[in-house]
Amino acid sequence: MIRPSDDFSARLRAAQKSLPSLPAPSVEAQALSAELSARLVAAMAAGGSLPFWRYMDMALYEPGLGYYSAGCRKLGEAGDFVTAPELSPLFSRTLARAIQPILADVECGEILEVGAGSGVMAAEILAQLAADNALPAQYRILELSAELRQRQQQTINQRVPELAARVHWCDSLEKKFSGVILANELLDALPAHRFVVRGGIARELCVAHRDDHFVWQAGERDNERVISRVQQIEQENDSRLAEGYISEILFAAEDWVKTAAKSLTSGMMLLLDYGQARSVYYHAQRNQGSLSCHYRHRMHEDPFYYPGLQDITAHVDFTAIADAALDAGLNVAGYTTQAHFLLGSGITDWLAGETDPLSLLEYSSQIKKLTLPQEMGETFKVMGLVKNCNTSLPGFMLQDMRDRL
Ligand SMILES: C[S@@+](CC[C@H](N)C(=O)[O-])C[C@H]1O[C@@H](n2cnc3c(N)ncnc32)[C@H](O)[C@@H]1O
Repeated sequence: MIRPSDDFSARLRAAQKSLPSLPAPSVEAQALSAELSARLVAAMAAGGSLPFWRYMDMALYEPGLGYYSAGCRKLGEAGDFVTAPELSPLFSRTLARAIQPILADVECGEILEVGAGSGVMAAEILAQLAADNALPAQYRILELSAELRQRQQQTINQRVPELAARVHWCDSLEKKFSGVILANELLDALPAHRFVVRGGIARELCVAHRDDHFVWQAGERDNERVISRVQQIEQENDSRLAEGYISEILFAAEDWVKTAAKSLTSGMMLLLDYGQARSVYYHAQRNQGSLSCHYRHRMHEDPFYYPGLQDITAHVDFTAIADAALDAGLNVAGYTTQAHFLLGSGITDWLAGETDPLSLLEYSSQIKKLTLPQEMGETFKVMGLVKNCNTSLPGFMLQDMRDRL
C-alpha cells in the first residue's frame, strides 16, 4: 500500500477542514448512513480498502441505503440539487420539440429515458408530444432506483394521467430499440475512477477506513486500464500530468454507452450532462479533478461526508464518450453546449406565445439559468450519437463543437 505523501494528506485535510457548515441530518438519516458505512467497511475487510469507484457505487446505489436507492428526497427544491428539468418545464418541452424529427424519421420510433429522476421530464415531454400530435406508441423508462421508479409513477399519474398507459418501465436495456434514447445527468451519476499521479505513474485512488473515518489512499496495485488511459491523455495533450495531479475517468459511463449502442438499431442517443472535451477536462490547471458532492443545495468536495445522504458526481470527458460510441458503431451527429442546443431548438419561442406577464418573467428567468454561460449554459453539453439515422437536429446547428473532441 502506498501511503499518501505528506503534501497530498495535508491538502486533503485542508480541503476537509474547509467544508462549509452543513445542516445536520436527522437522527434516522444518520442511522441509515451509519448502516451504509458499516457495509462499506465490511466490503473493505478483504483488501483493506476499496477502489473509489466501488465506494461511490455503494454510496449511491447500495440497495435500500445508497443515496439514489434510499428514500431521501434528492432532486428539486426540497432535496439536494436541482436539474434542468426540475428547474423549468421549458427544458423538457424544448427537448420534446427537438426529438420529433427523429421520431418521425425512424420506423416505429419510441423514446427510452434512462435515469428519469422524479419523472418530471417524462411527464413534460409526453404532454408536449401529445399537444403536437407526435406521441410515440411507448415511452419507456429505465431506472435503477426502485424508490425513484415509484416517484416517477406518481409524477406521471398526477401530471399526465391520460398518457400514463403509454409509459413502461423496463429492468434493462432492450435487445433492440429504435427511436431516441434520452439521458439527462445520467453519466455524471455513474461511479467514477479517480487517480493521482505519483512518481510519474497514475495510481488509482482508493478509500480506506482509519480511526473511524474514511480516508483516501493511493492504490498499491497498478490498474492497467487507468495507467493506459492516463498515458493516452498525456500523448493526446502532448504534455505529462504533473506530480500530485488528481482527476477522474468515467469508465462506467463509457461502458454504459457501449452497451446502449448495442441496443440501438436506428435512431439517436441524446446525452445531456456536465463535462468537457478531453483537452479541457485534463488541463494542467484542473489538477484536483471535478468530483463534487451535493447536500441540501450546498456543493462541496468531501465524498466521505455522511455516505448515502449526499449526491456524488464527476464531470464527463466527452472525448471518451465519443470514442466509446465510435468503437460501438455509432456516429457523433452533434456536440455542443446546452445553451446552443436549447437556443437552436427554439427555447425562446415559448416566450412569444406567453401573454401573462408574471409567467413571462418566470420563463425568462428560467431560460437565463438554462443558457447563460455562468449558469448551466456552458458547463452542460449535449451530444447526439446516431445509428442508421441521418436526421439533423437544429439544436446542433448553431454551434458545432465536434472538432474540439
Ligand atoms: C442525477 S440523477 C438525474 C435525474 C434526471 N434525469 C434529471 O435530470 O432530473 C441520475 C439518475 O440516474 C439514475 N441511474 C443511475 N444509474 C443508472 C443506471 N445504470 N440505469 C438507469 N438509471 C440509472 C438514478 O437513479 C437517477 O434517477
